[in-house]
Amino acid sequence: MSYLYAIIVNNKNDQKMTENASSIKLDRTVTDDIAYIGCEDFDIQQFEGQYYLPEGMCYNSYVFLDDKIAVMDTTDARCGEQWLTKLNTALNGRTPDYIVVQHVEPDHSSLVATFMAKYPNAKIICSAAAAKMLALYFPDVNFAANIQTVKEGDTLALGKHTLQFATAPMVHWPEVIVTYDSTDKVLFSADAFGKFGVYDAEADDWSCEARRYYFNICGKYGAQVQALLKKASNFDIQTICPLHGPILKGEMLAEALRLYNIWGAYDVESEGVFIAYCTMHGNTGKAAEALADILREKGVEKVALNNLCEDDWAEGIEDAFKYGKIVLASPTYDGGLFPKMVDFIHHLKIKNYQKRRIALIENGSWAPQAARIMREMLTDFKDVEVCPTAATVRGALKQADLASLNALADELLK
Ligand code: FEO
Repeated sequence: MSYLYAIIVNNKNDQKMTENASSIKLDRTVTDDIAYIGCEDFDIQQFEGQYYLPEGMCYNSYVFLDDKIAVMDTTDARCGEQWLTKLNTALNGRTPDYIVVQHVEPDHSSLVATFMAKYPNAKIICSAAAAKMLALYFPDVNFAANIQTVKEGDTLALGKHTLQFATAPMVHWPEVIVTYDSTDKVLFSADAFGKFGVYDAEADDWSCEARRYYFNICGKYGAQVQALLKKASNFDIQTICPLHGPILKGEMLAEALRLYNIWGAYDVESEGVFIAYCTMHGNTGKAAEALADILREKGVEKVALNNLCEDDWAEGIEDAFKYGKIVLASPTYDGGLFPKMVDFIHHLKIKNYQKRRIALIENGSWAPQAARIMREMLTDFKDVEVCPTAATVRGALKQADLASLNALADELLK
């Protein structure tokens, strides 16, 4: 959006918002003088064009209503009108002094130009890397005169509150900063501690969609997540305000920190086995299910299965990290590996998959090749141990195959 266009849109929005503002109540606050102006997107189907969102998405934004006013990030443009209306309500006639851009990815920064067109004297607080990145996303706007870059440990006094900034590179882009408010002991954590879903989605189980979000969005960056956790341990944190998902306090906050310490280190979160399989005519699927039964008979309480041909593969990535032992089962195809399994192993690789034990099942009617290729693809995974013997099924699952599946289960559970 050009600056001029943004001004025109804003003038029209101003009129509409003045009409709406009195009837809009902000539904959440962080503390008495930190307002929540995040937005919920019930219509979006996929996040980043690839992750299914059965329960929508929320983009969080906050406002410090202090002597100086600081707005923390914006939202996706999909929620532009909703955000501007909430911002207007929170401001109640006051003018913001700062907008803190913690992360430039468009789900958070899309409305920066709109904001600056409306409040041209506001300062943009961001990292030096973010300043360069803003120019990439807003080529028609020159923010230079308004930008005030911050680096590790810099502070910004608002009055009662003083914000302290810490860099969090690659959680999940290089320009990211997080912000700590020592007055109310709040960490604004950018994408860290976010989740899929609208604000209250699965309110009684934060971890499920937070885990799917974490491993698919930040999974590659465990070392950087650990670095952020180390920095965060220097702060007394009572509340975490992420850019997605609910505000975390109390037991939920403690649980989120516990899980992030496991996830960032690529440690095993849960005992059990995860089986990811592809199946063309159902036979490899039957082998996967037969192995699941064998594992259960051997006392494995949690066996999770994902049919990569039908189920959400992002859940497959999530479960592959959740459990310590996994099984990959695939047909041979065109003399090679079935393409969806190639894709799944590639995704594991780019998410930095490591520290797990893997067993292989292949199927092939005349020249089984899948196990050999899967093993080759897994050779350069860090600290991944592949069981030496793969189970081979030729076409339909036969009684004789159960013995090799039984032996495979024993090898996996060693
Ligand atoms: Fe929520 Fe990396 O954007």
